[in-house]
Amino acid sequence: MVARREFLGALTTASILPHVLFAKTFASGAEANEENSGGLMEQILCGPQPAMPSETQFAGAPEAYWAELRKQFIFRPGFLYLNNGTMGSSPRPVLRAFIESILKEDQLESSEDTELYPLWGYGNWDEYRRPVANFVGAKLEEIALVRNATEGLNYVANGLDLARGDEVIYTDEEHGSGKSPWLEKQQRYGVMVREITLPKPPASKQQILDLFEAARTPRTRIVMASHITSATGCVLPAREICAWARAHNLLSFIDGAHAIGMIPLNLREMGCDFYVTSPHKWLLSPKGIGVLYVRDEVCDRLWNTMATGGWDDHASRAARFQQFGSSNVSVLAGLRAALDFWAAIGPQRIERRIRDLHAHVKSQVAQIPGAELVSAPGEEFTAGICTVNFPKLDRMKFQQWIYHTHRIRVRGTSATRLRLSTHIYHNTAELDRFVGILRDYLRGGAA
Ligand SMILES: Cc1ncc(COP(=O)(O)O)c(C=O)c1O
Repeated sequence: MVARREFLGALTTASILPHVLFAKTFASGAEANEENSGGLMEQILCGPQPAMPSETQFAGAPEAYWAELRKQFIFRPGFLYLNNGTMGSSPRPVLRAFIESILKEDQLESSEDTELYPLWGYGNWDEYRRPVANFVGAKLEEIALVRNATEGLNYVANGLDLARGDEVIYTDEEHGSGKSPWLEKQQRYGVMVREITLPKPPASKQQILDLFEAARTPRTRIVMASHITSATGCVLPAREICAWARAHNLLSFIDGAHAIGMIPLNLREMGCDFYVTSPHKWLLSPKGIGVLYVRDEVCDRLWNTMATGGWDDHASRAARFQQFGSSNVSVLAGLRAALDFWAAIGPQRIERRIRDLHAHVKSQVAQIPGAELVSAPGEEFTAGICTVNFPKLDRMKFQQWIYHTHRIRVRGTSATRLRLSTHIYHNTAELDRFVGILRDYLRGGAA
């Protein structure tokens, strides 16, 4: 932990000025509370830290455990954040690791190496890659730490040698960052995109596999699918899709932007050739970090999109894809702290909590008159994202209204559809509050 005097001294250096400005901006809002105006950053770095809840607490009173855990987050009282699908909020230990790393690294003395330090953005970063590899069930040399899922998605689409007329199959539910690199490739090089339309919700895994099979032609080279779709939160059968692709000699590429932190991952077992994920969503890491997995057996087939020294160093395996020029090592310190935070709670316990809250909110919104659940019932095709359609809802209007009236931040994925993300910082009482407000709004009472 940073000593108070050291911290206050460091405030005068340019290195953390952006963070000071951030703290000031944050505190200048009309509703700034004591914690913010008193210096949230100082409190995070210098003040006594809330203890993590204990195992005994979990065994005896799980709700009290989660309430205690909530103190690890910096949400202001009364605010409800239901848009984790876009971005998560980092817990205090992650913020602390991130900010402390900025302070430490900007002194530029944390290594004896006078040649390779501080060449951030050109290194192997094994001390950060190894815990990530262990967490996602991959080999160290199969992991590249990039800057977000979008970057990884572009790396794969741009890096493969495909000929005019070769085909990629993807689903209608791929994110813009998943589709766009292929659409550009289609326009530029004549690589053809075939889009399948997923059932919403799917009835079975086989139903999805049959759609892929129906789209396959002799020119198909690669199949791409989200692990958890952005728009409807549908958990697709990634393992089965990869097995089907392998059986037909196709490459498989899974966009797991939402998966890390939401559900357990074992990429070797999944059998995908390429996988990307965004730890700043559900793993609650600092923003600006992505993970690209390249199965070692296909690594040599992928060209670098960003080329600098080391672009042709195939011995470095996937580390070749993280040579992209100067970068921010402190987000990696925060990422490692996020993995430690997960280990301290237990990934299975986190997944269970996410799923239980999801089941709760799903059952509650489903009872609102006019609700059309887009998310599947049960757990097979869902995890932490619940999507529900209200044909008469002006979603944008509601989204603005509920934030400005009730400080509830929610987002939707169509003109009438809401996407509700549940995470470990939520509880059933606040989800019920949201549902009650939504019900009243739809009744016309509050609109
Ligand atoms: C399925 C999916 N893929 C890719 C992305 C892009 O992720 P990022 O913004 O981290 O690059 C998103 C973002 O929401 C997403 O939902």
